[in-house]
Amino acid sequence: MRTRIVAGNWKMNKTLPQGLELIDQLITKLRTLQAQTLECKVVVAPPYALLAPLAQKLQGSSVLLAAQDCSAFQSGAYTGEVSAEMLHSCGCGAVIIGHSERRAYHAEGAQLLTEKVKRVFEQGMQVIFCVGENREQRESQQHFAVVEAQVLDALSGFSAQEMSQVILAYEPVWAIGTGLTATPQQAQEIHAHLRSVVAKKWGDETAEATTILYGGSCKPTNAAELFACPDVDGGLIGGAALDADKFFAIIQARG
Ligand code: PGA
Repeated sequence: MRTRIVAGNWKMNKTLPQGLELIDQLITKLRTLQAQTLECKVVVAPPYALLAPLAQKLQGSSVLLAAQDCSAFQSGAYTGEVSAEMLHSCGCGAVIIGHSERRAYHAEGAQLLTEKVKRVFEQGMQVIFCVGENREQRESQQHFAVVEAQVLDALSGFSAQEMSQVILAYEPVWAIGTGLTATPQQAQEIHAHLRSVVAKKWGDETAEATTILYGGSCKPTNAAELFACPDVDGGLIGGAALDADKFFAIIQARG
């Protein structure tokens, strides 16, 4: 069975005390599940500044720490940048790459994303690679082609073995933070398409094993129906991940 994942992308939210409190609440809630079987892996991606102290809190828990981005460079005179090596040394096991907000506000394109993925792999971490069409692209029926190109343009140079360390996240831009959610049917057809893209390029075995997350206004009220889709393996959660009750409810919906 594919790994199920519920990942919280905190974006630029939470001060250090607020982040510590949220993690405390989450750990307490997760403990209540100990006797039951929770099959999904829980991931949290706080801002850089919170990573090291949160890693300490998470010691001994099963929650995986992730970063929201990393530098395309290894180290050196790149003021303001944070390297994959630093993230790994702070306790991260995964890095989100290619989030639509990075693509839109920082003009991140395929070549740069490829370099970032390389840096993440050099540290033995997993990549959560985001794709998704914007509203105009969906309205003009380009959504299948757009997500396919986003995957292939940035990732086609990687081997099937490297792809086994990539988690894909389908995040339609028109659904992020808007309250609009893709219907289960819209999510399923894109997820199935992404899986077929992976199969064509890297083989059926890799495609079958690839975890594909849905993101975009996923919340407790719609998570279960999205997760019921055969190719939706979990969620990348923004707004609802900032509240322990909501995030926990989504984790339980994934189960
Ligand atoms: P949202 O964000 O859940 O707030 O829509 C999802 C994301 O951008 O990862």
